Amino acid sequence: MTVGHLRIEGTLAIIGGGRMGEAIAGGLIASGAFAPESIIVAEPVAERRTELSAAHGVRCVADAARAAYDADIVLLAVKPQVIDEVATSVANDLGDALVVSIAAGISCGRLESHLPAGTAVVRVMPNTPALVREGMSVISGGSEATPEQVDLVRELFSALGKTIVLDERHQDAATAISGSGPAYVALVVDSLARAGVRHGLSRQVAENLALQTVAGTAALIDRTGQHPEQVIDGVASPGGTTIAAIEALEAGGLRSAFAAAVAAAVARAKELGT
Ligand SMILES: NC(=O)c1ccc[n+]([C@@H]2O[C@H](COP(=O)([O-])OP(=O)(O)OC[C@H]3O[C@@H](n4cnc5c(N)ncnc54)[C@H](OP(=O)(O)O)[C@@H]3O)[C@@H](O)[C@H]2O)c1
Repeated sequence: MTVGHLRIEGTLAIIGGGRMGEAIAGGLIASGAFAPESIIVAEPVAERRTELSAAHGVRCVADAARAAYDADIVLLAVKPQVIDEVATSVANDLGDALVVSIAAGISCGRLESHLPAGTAVVRVMPNTPALVREGMSVISGGSEATPEQVDLVRELFSALGKTIVLDERHQDAATAISGSGPAYVALVVDSLARAGVRHGLSRQVAENLALQTVAGTAALIDRTGQHPEQVIDGVASPGGTTIAAIEALEAGGLRSAFAAAVAAAVARAKELGT
């Protein structure tokens, strides 16, 4: 298999044609990493197979083992609840394929235990902004994965946004921040929009204001390299409106609510993984 600047010669099997499976297929085709005919998707629901073939030109089959057979990379994009069963079902058809899993909380070691000895496994935690190529993917190699294989997976997921390679012990924390994070940010947007409605703005206007403020602030922090505290100080003038609002947020327990939310997500990721 060669990686000529993100053009993979080989076949990718995606097991699970759900939201993430589709986002990954779409991103890899759009980036030119894979031609549609080099991707095969295993998906149990017939209408979904028809939809995926029509939208992306990929081949779809019902049976995971059939998709895995002959593939160079097998991407497991099913729910954590069925991952053991799915890993076991493809084990005999893997050959020397690289196995990539995006299942939240499932360790490389757990997957390796279902697969033939020596199978290389790379674990990735992407997030839903990958659907619009603005994702954040956290990548960790298992005990059999080479640095080149980890790097290949990093290159693949860079078609869906930003990537970072981290030791697997950080995956649960990463899951709680960037994996679940789009839900927290959407909650912030929704809360701000509702508050705007309370003060006379239309829902649409309030939501647009909130949304562009989140996107703009992210871009500001990212492009200037400012610490978030500097951004807060830059808005909060002495005796002004922002400091009054920040005081109310602190009194409402915003920081401790986020700390508790992340702790709950980490705990749940650990539960799913055991
Ligand atoms: N959504 C997120 O924000 C996010 C972020 C990071 C990682 N992840 C991880 O990504 C994985 C997929 O999540 P998702 O949101 O894409 O879930 P999803 O939309 O439910 O997709 C999973 C798909 O796999 C199919 N499937 C189930 N058993 C199968 C089998 N034996 N062979 C082939 N396909 C099978 C499901 O079909 P049925 O509907 O018929 O069961 C479904 O279409 C999960 O492990 C999740 O932890 C998700």
